Amino acid sequence: DKGNYRHFMAKEIHEQPEVVGRTLSHFLDLSTGTVSLPFELPVDAATLPRLTISACGTAFMAGLVASYWFERIARLPVEIEVASEFRYREPPMEKGGLMLLISQSGETADTLASLRYAKAQGQKILSIVNVPTSTMARESDVAALTLAGPEIGVASTKAFTCQLALLACLALAFAKARGTIDAKEEARLVAELTAVPGLIAEALKREPQVELLARDLSKARDVLYLGRGTSYPLALEGALKLKEISYIHAEGYAAGELKHGPIALVDSDLPVIVLAPRDHVFEKTLSNVQEVAARNGRIILISEPEAAHELGVPAEVIALPKMAPDFSALVYAVPVQLLAYHTAVFMGKDADQPRNLAKSVTVE
Ligand code: F6R
Repeated sequence: DKGNYRHFMAKEIHEQPEVVGRTLSHFLDLSTGTVSLPFELPVDAATLPRLTISACGTAFMAGLVASYWFERIARLPVEIEVASEFRYREPPMEKGGLMLLISQSGETADTLASLRYAKAQGQKILSIVNVPTSTMARESDVAALTLAGPEIGVASTKAFTCQLALLACLALAFAKARGTIDAKEEARLVAELTAVPGLIAEALKREPQVELLARDLSKARDVLYLGRGTSYPLALEGALKLKEISYIHAEGYAAGELKHGPIALVDSDLPVIVLAPRDHVFEKTLSNVQEVAARNGRIILISEPEAAHELGVPAEVIALPKMAPDFSALVYAVPVQLLAYHTAVFMGKDADQPRNLAKSVTVE
């Protein structure tokens, strides 16, 4: 049932404050402001030498965002690769390691093959799935459930943010076990996560503005997405979303890579969407945007209200509320999804059923 929405995708985008909140409250104890997983980790988190992550598509982007959290907050080294490469690369894995798989359906062929490969290599298996009865859930030592509810739209939206929510909690649990955060820092980070559903609801209020920008975007032949830190995987996710439902060619780049090639593409016809939360690389991102402006690129800046002023060059700005930077990816995902959705709708495409795509990819 689509309710009052034209598409399941729109409904699912709007469900995010609720389902992200539900997922968070399953892995955090909001009354004490602590992280509290409803399961035992299958390894000793304190001494684990590294975490290996594999997934496909949007679930892979979630893993990539989380790799920044695991490394930065828990000081846990991460190896991450798309499942179709991981399974055939046949990487040697030290026994007793932890393999994390992420999948909405829990049935994706390549991700499942990576799970089985890692198991044969003596790894403990932790999977993040949205379907509790799925094959991956069954074959894992621990299956952590996102509480997104059924996702009908082919393009993953609420499953993605729920994966991020759960991964953030997992990163905090590792950090706690490894002693890289103290009780005060834990409480601070938990409070930041607790604020996320409200911030997502705020971000959803930018929809009318995003809709106007989408009209413009629908005329583009190519679109570039830029970001640094966790906004880099989000840039990749933005490009993927736009490609899959609007069929406009889009690419995501780490903003610092711009000058190593892609800047050659920039001219007044190329919309450049910049994801710039106020984090430790904010200024670096802004200076990359100024390089785009110097080549007459059309800039759409997703950032906080004052950023436009600091940028000092003309840009369309989607202003999101001020927020602590650690988990901004959960909030910045929203305008990225809305932009893709409204561009597709404006172009008359079926956002729920993009051509050539299936919801569950059970063949490699
Ligand atoms: C993109 C999308 C796909 C899936 C990918 C993995 O919007 O939906 O890229 O994320 O096929 O699917 P799951 O998560 O079911 O393993």
